Amino acid sequence: MKFFIDTANLNEIREAASLGMLDGVTTNPSLVSKEGKVDFREHVRAICEIVNGPVNAEVVGTDLETMLKEGRENAKIHPNVYVKVPCTADGLKACRALTDEGIHVNVTLVFSAPQAIMAAKAGAAFVSPFIGRLDDIGHQGMALIADLVEIYDNYDFETEILVASVRNPLHVIDAARLGADIVTMPFSVIMQMLKHPLTDIGNKRFLDDWNSVQGKK
Ligand code: E4P
Repeated sequence: MKFFIDTANLNEIREAASLGMLDGVTTNPSLVSKEGKVDFREHVRAICEIVNGPVNAEVVGTDLETMLKEGRENAKIHPNVYVKVPCTADGLKACRALTDEGIHVNVTLVFSAPQAIMAAKAGAAFVSPFIGRLDDIGHQGMALIADLVEIYDNYDFETEILVASVRNPLHVIDAARLGADIVTMPFSVIMQMLKHPLTDIGNKRFLDDWNSVQGKK
C-alpha cells in the first residue's frame, strides 16, 4: 500500500518525507491556493525535489483544449508529475489523449463506480474516489472503494485506486483491509496514524524507571 500526502505545504511534505513512509503527493487547486500566490510550476518543482514519487498536479481548465495544454505543461515540470483531470467528458478525453502521449493521468473527483470504470477505460494511471465527501452527504465512501477493488480486479484494470478525501486513520485502515493501492492523507491524519497514548505512557515510564536508578549517585 502506498501512502501519499494530500497537501501543497512544503513544510508538511518535508516532515512527512522525513518519517520515511511517503510515496507521493496529491495537490489540488484548493490546496495550492492555501499556500498563497505561489508560482505553480515552481511550487510543483519544489515538491518534486522533496519526494521521489508521483506528484499530482491538477489542471484548472474545464475544456479539452485547455486541459491538454495545461496537462502537457504540468508534465514537463518533472518526470514524476502525474496530471490530474476532473471526471468529466472533456476530462476523460484529455485522459486518453495525454495517456497516449505517455503522460500519467489521475482522474479526480470520482464519486461512483460508473465514473471509475470510465476512468479506467480511458487509461487513467490513478483514479481518485473522494470518500470523505461521500461520507459527508450520508453515503458510505468505503462501499465505493470495495466496489472498485472488486470491479478492477475482475478485469485486471491497471488503474490504481487512490483513496482520497481521507478524514481519519479509520479510513486508512478500512482502505488497507480492502486492498486499495494508495491512500492520500492530510498531514494531520499521518500524525494521528502514529499516535497511541500507551506508547507515550510506556515511554514515560521507561524513562522514569531508568532515571530513578541511573540518576542516583
Ligand atoms: C485528492 O487528491 C484531493 O486533493 C483530496 O483528497 C480532497 O479532499 P477533501 O475532500 O478533504 O478536500
